[in-house]
Amino acid sequence: MKSLSPSSFADRLSPPISAITAYDYPTARLCDEAGVQLILVGDSLGMMVAGGEDTTSVTLEQMVYHTTIVRRGVTRAVVVADLPIHSYDSPIQALASAGRLVEAGADAVKLEGGFEQMGQVEALVGKGFQVCGHLGMLPQHVREEGGYRKKGRSEAEAKSLVEAAVALESAGVFAIVLESVVEEVAAEVTARLRIPTIGIGSGHRCGGQVRVVHDVTGAFPWFVPPFAKTHGNVAEVTRQALSAFLEEVLDSHRTGFPD
Ligand code: KIV
Repeated sequence: MKSLSPSSFADRLSPPISAITAYDYPTARLCDEAGVQLILVGDSLGMMVAGGEDTTSVTLEQMVYHTTIVRRGVTRAVVVADLPIHSYDSPIQALASAGRLVEAGADAVKLEGGFEQMGQVEALVGKGFQVCGHLGMLPQHVREEGGYRKKGRSEAEAKSLVEAAVALESAGVFAIVLESVVEEVAAEVTARLRIPTIGIGSGHRCGGQVRVVHDVTGAFPWFVPPFAKTHGNVAEVTRQALSAFLEEVLDSHRTGFPD
């Protein structure tokens, strides 16, 4: 099993950490060439690639495939692969699943949850896997929760987020993604830890930011989360190229292709 020592991560991840999802070779290569520090093969591929409603139908086999093709495009960034839902229901299953993802080329794995995942995290770290935590809104639990909701609004919820983050750090995770956490709470979690937090929809006071690549490039125009800032318009460029192609095909009937 390939595993990185914590110090090799420290060299490659320096706050402010830039992290972005990628699910395929060209996107991963572009992200790597752009200098993104961490590439996440996120189970958000269930929506962004497969058109599903959420991440709850993503399988380990799909994650292995996407991790393999992302790995081919990356030479510099740290590649983190999500353990999909029900691939880490026990420590033994977590070890087997993480092994598949690392064999496919991941440098590290990410799993969702706090205290309830402590056995899994300790088992993984104990066997030399690099593990990233994920607290706040947990997309794999969206159905039980009845939707996406900001976390840390009540004092009790804020306290349990801080406690879970501290426990994950003690268990040996190298970073924690904070998703949809109230900004002040994300800032407090960040201040309490030595490891970096990587925020999404959690304000700017985290140790870094992670985004879904389609949100950044404007490649998924049908839904953009409210916190996402879109920096491009890939969907529009694609539509223009396609309509130019359709025109060309129509034209070719009249004039023949140029070559
Ligand atoms: O799957 C994913 O894209 C993620 C990010 C939202 C952090 O977990």
